[in-house]
Amino acid sequence: MSLIKNNKSALVTGASGAIGGAICEELLKNGIKYLAVLDMNSQEPKILSDWKKTYPSVSIKYFQVDVTSREELEKCYSEFTKAVPSLDIVINCAGIFNEKDPTRVINVNLNGVIESTRFAIDHMRIDTGKGKGGTIINISSVSGLNVFSGSPAYSASKFGVVAYTRALAHGRDHLGIKFLVLCPSGTDSAFYERAFSTKYLFMTTEETVAKRRKLLPAQSPSEVGKATVEIMQIGKSGSVWTIRNGELAEEELPAIRI
Ligand SMILES: NC(=O)c1ccc[n+]([C@@H]2O[C@H](COP(=O)([O-])OP(=O)(O)OC[C@H]3O[C@@H](n4cnc5c(N)ncnc54)[C@H](O)[C@@H]3O)[C@@H](O)[C@H]2O)c1
Repeated sequence: MSLIKNNKSALVTGASGAIGGAICEELLKNGIKYLAVLDMNSQEPKILSDWKKTYPSVSIKYFQVDVTSREELEKCYSEFTKAVPSLDIVINCAGIFNEKDPTRVINVNLNGVIESTRFAIDHMRIDTGKGKGGTIINISSVSGLNVFSGSPAYSASKFGVVAYTRALAHGRDHLGIKFLVLCPSGTDSAFYERAFSTKYLFMTTEETVAKRRKLLPAQSPSEVGKATVEIMQIGKSGSVWTIRNGELAEEELPAIRI
């Protein structure tokens, strides 16, 4: 059964990656009609030609975009929104793991999400008459809820994604946009392997890495993809969800007071 009805469009960042790719697959399975696949790689993902064959009635387009560039994001949003009836779904999934370059981690994982979300709001908001409303899902991590000592910059970036998205959602029903956060636990990918390599961690021993790996077994990217489409249906704006070993749960966080 298709969960996404009425000619909807979606834009996904980091879509050449394991989780971004799985999210695209799930959107396609569930009836998306226009799909913008964004990643910084110069080559579009090989899977795109399979998707085009399997879903011939869907318009699928690859955009090479570095989410740290406002200009590239703006150009992409502008081009995609001209080609679709309305921008309905945005999933900010691009992310990196590298404690040797904390500035880049914050720029990609947090500033990239903030800038992309701002463009999405501009095209979706109903109060200005420009958009028809929609859903924005920002991908954080379980280390955006409980810090990981080996990855201070990564944890900070992912806490930032949770804070930014919750603050945006609060008291902004007039925008007609649902803001959600999904925090995956370890998920099978090249990214997961980097997160368990001392090469990319901050002053961490092999012993600590081995302990951490045991605590965070990898789920499949498709489980995260399915969870993303599910929270789109059941999540209230401002809610934060975890997906751990395939189990989806809503997080209880301290209420926002002001
Ligand atoms: N894999 C895990 O264990 C795990 C766990 C929790 C959260 N996450 C989060 O999920 C998201 C996706 O991770 P993944 O496992 O699919 O990793 P991945 O490395 O497979 O995919 C990440 C994608 O982001 C793209 N990217 C990186 N920098 C970019 C930039 N500046 N502009 C545009 N695209 C850029 C990469 O090219 C890549 O295709 C990330 O935000 C990550 O933090 C992953």
